[in-house]
Amino acid sequence: MLNFRSEDIGKHKLELTTPCLLMDIDAIDRNIQKMSLFFSSRPCKLRPHAKTHKSPFIAHRQIQAGAIGITCAKLQDAKAFVEAGVDNILIANEVVGREKLHDLIDLATKTQIIVCVDNLQNAKDLSEVAINKGIKIDVLIEVDVGLKRCGLEPGLPTLQFLQRTLDLPGINFKGLMGYEGALFFLAGEEKVRECQKRNQLLINTKSLIEADGIRVEIVSAGGSNTYKITGNCEDVTEIQPGSYVTMDDWNCTHDIDFEPAITVLASVVSRPTKDRAIIDAGLKAISMDHGMPKVMNLRGATLTELNEEHGRLVLDDDSRDIIKVGDRLEIMPTHGCTTIPLYDNYITIKDDVVVDKLEIISRGAAY
Ligand SMILES: Cc1ncc(COP(=O)(O)O)c(C=O)c1O
Repeated sequence: MLNFRSEDIGKHKLELTTPCLLMDIDAIDRNIQKMSLFFSSRPCKLRPHAKTHKSPFIAHRQIQAGAIGITCAKLQDAKAFVEAGVDNILIANEVVGREKLHDLIDLATKTQIIVCVDNLQNAKDLSEVAINKGIKIDVLIEVDVGLKRCGLEPGLPTLQFLQRTLDLPGINFKGLMGYEGALFFLAGEEKVRECQKRNQLLINTKSLIEADGIRVEIVSAGGSNTYKITGNCEDVTEIQPGSYVTMDDWNCTHDIDFEPAITVLASVVSRPTKDRAIIDAGLKAISMDHGMPKVMNLRGATLTELNEEHGRLVLDDDSRDIIKVGDRLEIMPTHGCTTIPLYDNYITIKDDVVVDKLEIISRGAAY
């Protein structure tokens, strides 16, 4: 059974078959415009991270509004976006393994691709595959500015690594990438200070490399949480925010100044007791890695547990006499990036009325 049929177009959103993923198309557009406007008057460019939305429609809209291209986390995402006509992609991640390197270089023969490296053997392999296919691949060196994920230590270790890659004939060094965007645990002045401190690590590394006579054309950083700070940083040339476009409850509670644009629609399937309701959206319909999702259209109903196919709601005085089997509940995910790929498509909504559906590409465990 499909959860969207052409007859659904024009219906009120609460009449849809559940669970399904709703996208408020006007809110998406306002978020795109707002972020683009911020960067329109600055030297720093916008390259939104498409891992959040996995939607060629949104990517094209972001580029039409002024983005220079998109960022992807995985090769498979980049391939899917290129097939959908999106050009100029930064893979803000390392691509490792011969098979993937062949695919990556094939992709780089079709459009502008930049990839990150932080390992010498990987850089050598990348260079060899590129040369065998007669091209050079653009690379950024990933620098760890405090996330403790991928990336080399800033400063001398990065310069020394770069010096060892310079004679690799298939690699074209373009610059540096460092992600300082996960500063959700801080607010206000403290966040500004920490963000600037992390950006400074990247900038100092750039200066060190340039003092060695090597040009650093690109410095890529930033996320939705830090775009205002990092986007104003003189030496950062581009920013890669992702979740600002769809938003989620986590971003809302961390004062990210964009509009929520996606929700999951679920139905009440059981009312076993006075203060309990069960919905048809569980872990396969909505993620909870950033905490319990939030019911939007009913006061006094709190999601307390998600099983595979069920969500349990605890009801208080405001909701227990109202809610009945068959009712639709609109739920805001706490993490859009991990909820969106659970669905084949978004159902787009305008003024609460169904407009169409939009494909979500490269779903599942992208390689
Ligand atoms: C390397 C990198 N860049 C950018 C982003 C985008 O962050 P946000 O969705 O908070 O804008 C992420 C998010 O995980 C990331 O890992």
